[in-house]
Amino acid sequence: MRRKIIAGNWKMNKTIPEAVTLAKEVVAATKGAQAITVICPTYVCLAPVNEAIKGSHVILGAQDVHWEEKGAFTGKVSCDMLKSAGVTYVIIGHSEQRSYFNETNETVNKKVKAVLKAGLLPIICVGETLAEREGGRTEAVVKDHVEGAYKGLSKDDALKTVIAYEPVWAIGTGKVATKEQAQEVHAFIRKKVLSALYDADTASKIQIQYGGSMKADNAAALLKQEDIDGGLIGGAALKADDFKGIVLA
Ligand code: PGA
Repeated sequence: MRRKIIAGNWKMNKTIPEAVTLAKEVVAATKGAQAITVICPTYVCLAPVNEAIKGSHVILGAQDVHWEEKGAFTGKVSCDMLKSAGVTYVIIGHSEQRSYFNETNETVNKKVKAVLKAGLLPIICVGETLAEREGGRTEAVVKDHVEGAYKGLSKDDALKTVIAYEPVWAIGTGKVATKEQAQEVHAFIRKKVLSALYDADTASKIQIQYGGSMKADNAAALLKQEDIDGGLIGGAALKADDFKGIVLA
């Protein structure tokens, strides 16, 4: 049985005091949740948020990382730095990174390997744009993203990963994929792509989240789908009540 995992991607929102307040509200609001509950604030908020959630069920995640261990990489943050701030999960390859900051399959792969080597857990984002969907290229794009991210990864390492399928046209647009659209791609990732890269048993154990305008009122229907194992939540993760609705769903 794959356990559900709901992760809040706070993106570039919340100052340190605001982040600490929200983190405490999330701890209180999601107490007793069956789903693994993760929050991913900005780098500067990681340590204070870690302090605020200490001893609770809520797990800390980061939004990105650099693959090098240390050195002259101005502006970048390493896996060891994230670990020292209390981080467990790291989002990698988010579409905003891919479209605004030159993230490629190659950099995603380097980051995934660095994260696993450091004993952290990657949440690997994949997904097609509207033009790609309308051009009938959804499966080709998603396959390319998954194969690129998992290049050279052993089965043991693959079992530590989480995938977030996030159709780019659904991110921050309020235009959620239908449960059928999402399930179709999730099943493709699991039964076709991951099964071919590894085997059916391994593929059946990897959690695949859906992301893109997931809200309290559409979460239950999506999360009931056979191959949807959780959510990566942007906008609705910024208010504890909204996030709670998804975690409890
Ligand atoms: P959204 O963002 O929930 O605001 O659509 C999801 C994401 O980008 O991870």
